[in-house]
Amino acid sequence: MTQSERNIHPSFDQFVSRHNKEWLLQQRSKVVWLTGLSGSGKTTIAKGVERVLFEMGHITMILDGDNVRAGINNNLGFSPDDRKENIRRIAETARLFLDSGIVTICSFVSPMEEMRQAAASIIGKNDFIEVYINTPLAECERRDVKGLYAKARKGEIKDFTGINAPFEVPAHPALEIMTKGQTVEDSVRQLLEYVVPLIQHDGVR
Ligand code: ADX
Repeated sequence: MTQSERNIHPSFDQFVSRHNKEWLLQQRSKVVWLTGLSGSGKTTIAKGVERVLFEMGHITMILDGDNVRAGINNNLGFSPDDRKENIRRIAETARLFLDSGIVTICSFVSPMEEMRQAAASIIGKNDFIEVYINTPLAECERRDVKGLYAKARKGEIKDFTGINAPFEVPAHPALEIMTKGQTVEDSVRQLLEYVVPLIQHDGVR
Protein backbone atom coordinates (compact mmCIF):
# COMPACT_ATOMS: atom_id res chain seq x y z
CA MET A 1 0.00 0.00 0.00
CA THR A 2 1.34 3.45 -0.87
CA GLN A 3 1.58 6.26 1.70
CA SER A 4 -1.16 8.12 -0.15
CA GLU A 5 -3.46 5.12 0.08
CA ARG A 6 -2.77 5.05 3.83
CA ASN A 7 -3.72 8.77 4.01
CA ILE A 8 -0.19 9.70 5.02
CA HIS A 9 1.23 12.71 3.19
CA PRO A 10 4.73 13.57 4.37
CA SER A 11 5.78 17.10 3.46
CA PHE A 12 9.32 18.29 3.78
CA ASP A 13 9.49 21.23 1.40
CA GLN A 14 8.52 24.02 3.81
CA PHE A 15 11.02 22.99 6.49
CA VAL A 16 14.38 24.70 6.79
CA SER A 17 16.69 22.50 4.75
CA ARG A 18 19.52 20.36 5.98
CA HIS A 19 21.79 22.41 3.74
CA ASN A 20 20.88 25.61 5.63
CA LYS A 21 21.23 23.92 9.01
CA GLU A 22 24.67 22.65 8.04
CA TRP A 23 25.59 26.20 7.12
CA LEU A 24 24.35 27.48 10.49
CA LEU A 25 26.37 24.82 12.33
CA GLN A 26 29.34 25.16 9.97
CA GLN A 27 29.64 21.43 9.51
CA ARG A 28 28.56 18.74 7.10
CA SER A 29 26.50 16.09 8.84
CA LYS A 30 27.25 12.38 8.47
CA VAL A 31 26.29 9.17 10.23
CA VAL A 32 29.33 7.33 11.53
CA TRP A 33 28.17 3.75 12.06
CA LEU A 34 30.36 1.70 14.40
CA THR A 35 29.80 -2.05 14.16
CA GLY A 36 31.60 -4.77 16.08
CA LEU A 37 31.28 -7.33 18.84
CA SER A 38 30.04 -6.44 22.31
CA GLY A 39 33.04 -5.16 24.23
CA SER A 40 35.02 -4.37 21.07
CA GLY A 41 35.39 -0.72 22.10
CA LYS A 42 32.65 0.98 20.08
CA THR A 43 31.27 3.09 22.92
CA THR A 44 34.70 4.07 24.21
CA ILE A 45 35.82 5.18 20.74
CA ALA A 46 32.52 7.00 20.12
CA LYS A 47 32.92 8.97 23.36
CA GLY A 48 36.56 9.81 22.62
CA VAL A 49 35.74 11.02 19.11
CA GLU A 50 32.78 13.04 20.33
CA ARG A 51 34.89 14.81 22.93
CA VAL A 52 37.49 15.90 20.35
CA LEU A 53 34.85 16.95 17.81
CA PHE A 54 33.13 19.01 20.50
CA GLU A 55 36.40 20.75 21.31
CA MET A 56 36.80 21.48 17.59
CA GLY A 57 33.37 23.16 17.64
CA HIS A 58 31.24 20.39 16.16
CA ILE A 59 27.75 19.39 17.29
CA THR A 60 27.37 15.62 17.60
CA MET A 61 24.97 12.99 18.87
CA ILE A 62 25.85 9.48 20.04
CA LEU A 63 23.26 6.74 19.65
CA ASP A 64 24.45 3.73 21.61
CA GLY A 65 23.12 0.18 22.01
CA ASP A 66 22.68 -0.02 25.76
CA ASN A 67 21.16 3.48 26.00
CA VAL A 68 18.74 3.10 23.12
CA ARG A 69 17.69 -0.31 24.40
CA ALA A 70 16.96 1.27 27.81
CA GLY A 71 14.66 3.82 26.16
CA ILE A 72 13.03 3.94 22.74
CA ASN A 73 13.78 0.27 22.05
CA ASN A 74 13.07 -1.12 25.52
CA ASN A 75 10.49 -3.49 24.06
CA LEU A 76 13.07 -5.29 21.90
CA GLY A 77 15.25 -8.31 22.68
CA PHE A 78 17.99 -10.06 20.74
CA SER A 79 16.12 -12.37 18.38
CA PRO A 80 17.06 -11.81 14.71
CA ASP A 81 13.76 -9.96 14.12
CA ASP A 82 14.15 -7.75 17.18
CA ARG A 83 17.72 -6.86 16.22
CA LYS A 84 16.50 -5.93 12.74
CA GLU A 85 13.79 -3.71 14.21
CA ASN A 86 16.31 -2.23 16.66
CA ILE A 87 18.57 -1.22 13.78
CA ARG A 88 15.69 0.03 11.62
CA ARG A 89 14.46 2.42 14.33
CA ILE A 90 18.00 3.58 15.05
CA ALA A 91 18.65 4.25 11.37
CA GLU A 92 15.43 6.28 11.14
CA THR A 93 16.43 8.19 14.27
CA ALA A 94 19.94 8.78 12.94
CA ARG A 95 18.41 10.20 9.77
CA LEU A 96 16.49 12.79 11.79
CA PHE A 97 19.73 13.96 13.36
CA LEU A 98 21.48 13.87 9.98
CA ASP A 99 18.75 16.06 8.53
CA SER A 100 19.29 18.48 11.42
CA GLY A 101 22.92 18.92 10.42
CA ILE A 102 24.26 16.95 13.36
CA VAL A 103 27.21 14.57 13.14
CA THR A 104 25.71 11.34 14.44
CA ILE A 105 27.76 8.48 15.83
CA CYS A 106 25.90 5.16 16.02
CA SER A 107 27.40 2.44 18.16
CA PHE A 108 25.60 -0.87 17.72
CA VAL A 109 26.70 -4.48 17.36
CA SER A 110 24.55 -4.59 14.18
CA PRO A 111 25.83 -8.10 13.50
CA MET A 112 24.38 -8.87 10.07
CA GLU A 113 25.35 -7.42 6.70
CA GLU A 114 21.67 -7.24 5.74
CA MET A 115 20.75 -4.97 8.67
CA ARG A 116 23.74 -2.69 8.06
CA GLN A 117 22.71 -2.40 4.42
CA ALA A 118 19.16 -1.62 5.48
CA ALA A 119 20.52 1.13 7.73
CA ALA A 120 22.65 2.47 4.87
CA SER A 121 19.65 2.71 2.59
CA ILE A 122 17.50 4.49 5.20
CA ILE A 123 20.31 6.94 5.93
CA GLY A 124 21.54 7.22 2.33
CA LYS A 125 24.72 5.60 1.10
CA ASN A 126 26.62 8.90 0.76
CA ASP A 127 26.02 9.82 4.38
CA PHE A 128 26.54 6.39 5.95
CA ILE A 129 30.11 5.74 7.05
CA GLU A 130 30.51 2.13 8.10
CA VAL A 131 33.37 1.59 10.53
CA TYR A 132 34.28 -1.90 11.63
CA ILE A 133 35.70 -1.99 15.15
CA ASN A 134 37.70 -5.15 14.69
CA THR A 135 38.57 -6.65 18.04
CA PRO A 136 39.00 -10.44 18.09
CA LEU A 137 36.42 -12.34 20.08
CA ALA A 138 39.11 -13.68 22.42
CA GLU A 139 40.16 -10.11 23.26
CA CYS A 140 36.54 -8.97 23.85
CA GLU A 141 36.09 -11.98 26.09
CA ARG A 142 39.31 -11.25 27.95
CA ARG A 143 38.19 -7.65 28.58
CA ASP A 144 34.60 -8.69 29.37
CA VAL A 145 33.81 -5.21 30.68
CA LYS A 146 30.16 -6.01 31.42
CA GLY A 147 30.69 -9.63 32.49
CA LEU A 148 28.37 -10.76 29.69
CA TYR A 149 30.75 -13.21 27.99
CA ALA A 150 31.16 -15.11 31.25
CA LYS A 151 27.39 -15.30 31.59
CA ALA A 152 26.97 -16.36 27.96
CA ARG A 153 29.57 -19.12 28.37
CA LYS A 154 27.65 -20.38 31.40
CA GLY A 155 24.52 -20.53 29.23
CA GLU A 156 22.85 -17.69 31.13
CA ILE A 157 22.38 -15.54 27.99
CA LYS A 158 21.04 -17.10 24.86
CA ASP A 159 21.71 -15.58 21.43
CA PHE A 160 24.82 -13.75 22.62
CA THR A 161 26.72 -12.34 19.64
CA GLY A 162 30.00 -14.17 19.03
CA ILE A 163 29.13 -17.03 21.40
CA ASN A 164 25.84 -18.46 20.23
CA ALA A 165 24.65 -15.85 17.74
CA PRO A 166 26.46 -14.83 14.56
CA PHE A 167 28.51 -11.77 13.69
CA GLU A 168 29.09 -11.21 9.99
CA VAL A 169 32.32 -9.33 9.36
CA PRO A 170 31.59 -6.24 7.22
CA ALA A 171 32.54 -6.92 3.61
CA HIS A 172 33.45 -3.36 2.59
CA PRO A 173 33.64 -1.01 5.58
CA ALA A 174 34.77 2.55 4.89
CA LEU A 175 37.26 2.08 7.70
CA GLU A 176 38.47 -0.77 9.90
CA ILE A 177 39.99 -0.13 13.30
CA MET A 178 42.01 -2.96 14.83
CA THR A 179 41.93 -2.06 18.51
CA LYS A 180 44.05 -4.92 19.80
CA GLY A 181 47.54 -3.70 20.65
CA GLN A 182 46.67 -0.05 20.21
CA THR A 183 45.59 2.53 22.75
CA VAL A 184 42.13 4.11 22.87
CA GLU A 185 43.80 7.35 21.77
CA ASP A 186 45.22 5.59 18.69
CA SER A 187 41.78 4.29 17.73
CA VAL A 188 40.15 7.68 18.33
CA ARG A 189 42.82 9.39 16.22
CA GLN A 190 42.36 6.88 13.41
CA LEU A 191 38.63 7.53 13.28
CA LEU A 192 39.06 11.31 13.52
CA GLU A 193 41.53 11.31 10.61
CA TYR A 194 38.86 9.72 8.48
CA VAL A 195 35.84 11.68 9.68
CA VAL A 196 37.09 15.24 10.17
CA PRO A 197 37.69 15.97 6.45
CA LEU A 198 34.18 14.70 5.64
CA ILE A 199 32.43 17.08 8.04
CA GLN A 200 34.34 20.23 7.13
CA HIS A 201 32.10 23.03 5.89
CA ASP A 202 33.37 25.27 3.09
CA GLY A 203 31.58 28.27 4.59
CA VAL A 204 29.50 28.87 1.46
CA ARG A 205 25.79 29.29 2.12
S1 ADX B 1 22.23 -5.31 18.08
O1 ADX B 1 22.68 -6.68 17.78
O2 ADX B 1 20.76 -5.21 18.10
O3 ADX B 1 22.87 -4.30 17.21
P1 ADX B 1 22.89 -3.62 20.34
O4 ADX B 1 24.13 -2.93 19.90
O5 ADX B 1 21.62 -2.85 20.26
O6 ADX B 1 22.77 -5.04 19.56
O7 ADX B 1 23.05 -4.09 21.85
C1 ADX B 1 24.19 -4.81 22.22
C2 ADX B 1 24.48 -4.65 23.69
O8 ADX B 1 23.46 -5.28 24.45
C3 ADX B 1 25.78 -5.35 24.03
O9 ADX B 1 26.86 -4.46 24.07
C4 ADX B 1 25.50 -5.94 25.40
O10 ADX B 1 25.84 -5.00 26.40
C5 ADX B 1 24.01 -6.12 25.46
N1 ADX B 1 23.52 -7.49 25.23
C6 ADX B 1 22.65 -8.13 26.04
N2 ADX B 1 22.32 -9.33 25.52
C7 ADX B 1 22.98 -9.45 24.34
C8 ADX B 1 23.02 -10.47 23.33
N3 ADX B 1 22.32 -11.59 23.45
N4 ADX B 1 23.82 -10.28 22.25
C9 ADX B 1 24.53 -9.14 22.12
N5 ADX B 1 24.53 -8.14 23.04
C10 ADX B 1 23.75 -8.27 24.13
